[in-house]
Amino acid sequence: MAVHGVGLQINATTLAMVDDVDPGLYNFSEVLCDSVAAPLDCGYVIDPAARPVMEQLAARHPLLAHGNHGNEFGYDPLDETPGVRRHIAIAHEMKSPWYADHMFFGFRESAFMWSSPLQFSRLEIERVAGRAAALQDRMKLPLLHENAFYYARFPGSEIEEAEFIAGLVERAQTYLLLDLHNCYSNSVNFPDYDHWKFLKTIPLDRVIEIHLAGGEQIEDWYHDFHNHYVPEPVWEMLEYVLKHASRLEAVTLEVQGPAHSAKSHAVMPDWPFMVSNDLKRARQLWDSIRGPGGRA
Ligand SMILES: [Fe+2]
Repeated sequence: MAVHGVGLQINATTLAMVDDVDPGLYNFSEVLCDSVAAPLDCGYVIDPAARPVMEQLAARHPLLAHGNHGNEFGYDPLDETPGVRRHIAIAHEMKSPWYADHMFFGFRESAFMWSSPLQFSRLEIERVAGRAAALQDRMKLPLLHENAFYYARFPGSEIEEAEFIAGLVERAQTYLLLDLHNCYSNSVNFPDYDHWKFLKTIPLDRVIEIHLAGGEQIEDWYHDFHNHYVPEPVWEMLEYVLKHASRLEAVTLEVQGPAHSAKSHAVMPDWPFMVSNDLKRARQLWDSIRGPGGRA
């Protein structure tokens, strides 16, 4: 079986409820490389304690590799980053058809930090594209960039995020993981960020994967906590992208809650129902636009 159709990201939260969600509702499991990677100062790449879980997941569905803390777009030498030293081998071990990572600014000393966006500037397109092309060469797999949720733009940003992404994939000949909830969340929080303009600016023909999730409004900020149903505007965006992204292979649901942010509320008893409901809705939307055969 190939990675294709609607899938579920496996993390600490969804792993705990995986037996309560019908495995027939999803076609693949997305696995976070960092959750199975061995420390950088040991002689093996996959933590032996993580192998049994990987094997159980692989027995049910094809696996898809996703990286959060690869640090490939910071300033450390590329060959010293976790992206090269751990994620390449892990992605191939999973037989993943591609590797996706966030467009985060990261380096060794900031590896614990989450969601530090790149500077959206023309100079950074050149620098990041060089590293992205080099990583894709080393990967021997398509490299997908995931657009980030962020709390503030990186100082010195002079162009819009969508323009940055379009320039990056054109220069590096890489691909995209379009996180629709990250895009929607940024449009809620930043008055000058238009999620429809974003979708019409990025090259949709480079989108291979989509992420869906829900979030939470706390006072004057909407947080990408992955702790609620996928909101209606994100379903509208998915419908548009399903119609226009010719290379699209996979739609992945992310649910994490407290495993994603300590400020998120606890896992609720109805979350297996929430996950099942959103997986069903994504499948129905896929089938209504691409036909049921398109997800097989
Ligand atoms: Fe995502």
